[in-house]
Amino acid sequence: MVVQASTPGNMSYNGLAQTPPMGWNNWNAFGCYVNNRLLETTSNLLVKYGLRDAGYQYVVVDDCWSSHRDDDSQTLVADSVRFPQGMKSIADYIHHNSMKFGIYSSAGLYTCAGYPGSLGYESIDAHTFAEWGVDFLKYDNCYNNGQSGNPSISHRRYNIMSQALRSTNRPIVYSLCNWGEDNAWSWAPTISNSWRMSGDISDNYDRADARCPCAPDNLRCPLTGFHCSMAHILTKASYLTAKAQPGAWLDLDMLEVGNGGMTQNEYKTHFSMWAAMKSPLMIGTDLENLHADDLAIYLNPAVIAVNQDPLGESINLVWRNRVIDGQTVHVSLWSGRLFNGDQIVAVVNQDRVERHVTISLADIFSDEPRKARTMNWAVHDLWGPSRLNASSLHEIMSSDSLNGSRFPESYYNATAKSYSEGVIEKDRRLIGDKIFEFGPAGQRSVSIPAHGIGFYRLRSIETFLV
Ligand code: GAL
Repeated sequence: MVVQASTPGNMSYNGLAQTPPMGWNNWNAFGCYVNNRLLETTSNLLVKYGLRDAGYQYVVVDDCWSSHRDDDSQTLVADSVRFPQGMKSIADYIHHNSMKFGIYSSAGLYTCAGYPGSLGYESIDAHTFAEWGVDFLKYDNCYNNGQSGNPSISHRRYNIMSQALRSTNRPIVYSLCNWGEDNAWSWAPTISNSWRMSGDISDNYDRADARCPCAPDNLRCPLTGFHCSMAHILTKASYLTAKAQPGAWLDLDMLEVGNGGMTQNEYKTHFSMWAAMKSPLMIGTDLENLHADDLAIYLNPAVIAVNQDPLGESINLVWRNRVIDGQTVHVSLWSGRLFNGDQIVAVVNQDRVERHVTISLADIFSDEPRKARTMNWAVHDLWGPSRLNASSLHEIMSSDSLNGSRFPESYYNATAKSYSEGVIEKDRRLIGDKIFEFGPAGQRSVSIPAHGIGFYRLRSIETFLV
C-alpha cells in the first residue's frame, strides 16, 4: 500500500522545494576564490559524474561575487575580474547544462565577507536576480544593523526579501541563512524554503572550537559562530526535527564530504544523517580533485532516496548514550517514517572504537507500538555490499567525454525514474541489501565501526493481527 504524503505539513510558502534542494555551493571548499571558470567547470563535472541526474540540480555561488552598486540604478554589479561576462552569462551557461543557478546575498548592509548587502535594496535585488535567471537565493545574516534579537524583528527583515522574490513571479527557492537565531523555527517555515539552524559547519567530526561557542542543546544561543563540528550540528538539529516541513526544510549546512577532514566512516555518517533529517544536500567540495570514494558517497542512491522521500519527515532521535556494563557508550538510535510505510533507522556511533549495540523494534517504533508488536520486518543495509563503489566509478571519472560515459549498473539515474517510483518497484539500488529479519517485538545486536553509522531501511514482510 502506498501512503501519500500527508498534507498538514505540506506548506511550502511558494510551492517550491517539495523535496529538499540538492546541488553544489563553492563556500566550504573555495571561500572567496570563486569565478566563472569554477562554476562552469563544476557544472560540467556535475553532469559528467552523474550528479546532476542523481538530483544535484543547483549550482550556487556564495559570497564575494559582487563588487558594488551601480550609482544610477542601484543594482548590484558583478566583480569584473571574477565574472567578466556578468551573472546572466553564467546563469545561461548553467541552464544550458539543464541545471539551475543559485546566488547569495545578505539581509544586512554588507555580506559576511564585506560586499554590498541587500538590506534596504530587497526589491531591486530580487528583480535583478530574476532578470539574470537566478533560481535560488541563499540569504545570509551578517551586518544586519542590529535588526535581530527577537523573532519578530528577524522575521520582518527576512520576510521583506521573501515577498520581494515572490513578486518577481520567477520561481526562486529561498534559502534562509540566519544560523537559527531568534527561534528561526517559529517563523522561517512560513516565509522560506529552508532555514539554517546552526553556525557554519567545519570539516571535522567532533572537535570543539571556541568559535562555535554554545553547547548544542542551547537553543537560545546568542552567538552561533562558525567552525561547528559535524557532531555538534547533528546534536543541535536533533532537538529541531519536529519543526522541519516539506518545502521549509531544516538546513544543517553544506556537505563536507571530500574535503579531507573526516574519515570515510565519518563522511558516511555525515551524509546519511543530513539525508535522513531532510536537510538540503549541497555538495561543498572541489569536484576537479574529487576522489572516487567520495563520489560514491555523494551518489549513493539508497541514501538520496531517503532524502527525497515524498513524505518529507525528518528522522527523530529515539535514545542517545546508554550505559552498557557500567560504561557509557556514545551511540544513538534514530528512527523515522517513509512514504511507503518503510522505516528509516540510523545507529550512530560517536565513540572512537567499534560498538555492539542492541536495537529493538520496541525502540524503533516507540511512536507506533503496534508496528513493533505485530509485524515482521526485513532490515536492509543502505551501505551494503552491492552499493555503488569507488572502483566502478573510475571509468567515468577518467573519461574525456563530458557526457555519454557508461555508468555502472549500481548508479541510479533519477531523471529516468524518480526515487519514489524506484522504491515502489523495489529497485535494489534504492532499498539496499537485506541483512536480517526482525520478528514481532524482535531485538538484535549490530556492530557499528568507530565514528560510523548503521543506516537501514526496514520493510514490512507481513502483518500478524493480534
Ligand atoms: C556565513 C554563512 C556561510 C557562508 C559565509 C559567506 O554567514 O553561514 O555559509 O555563506 O557566510 O561569507
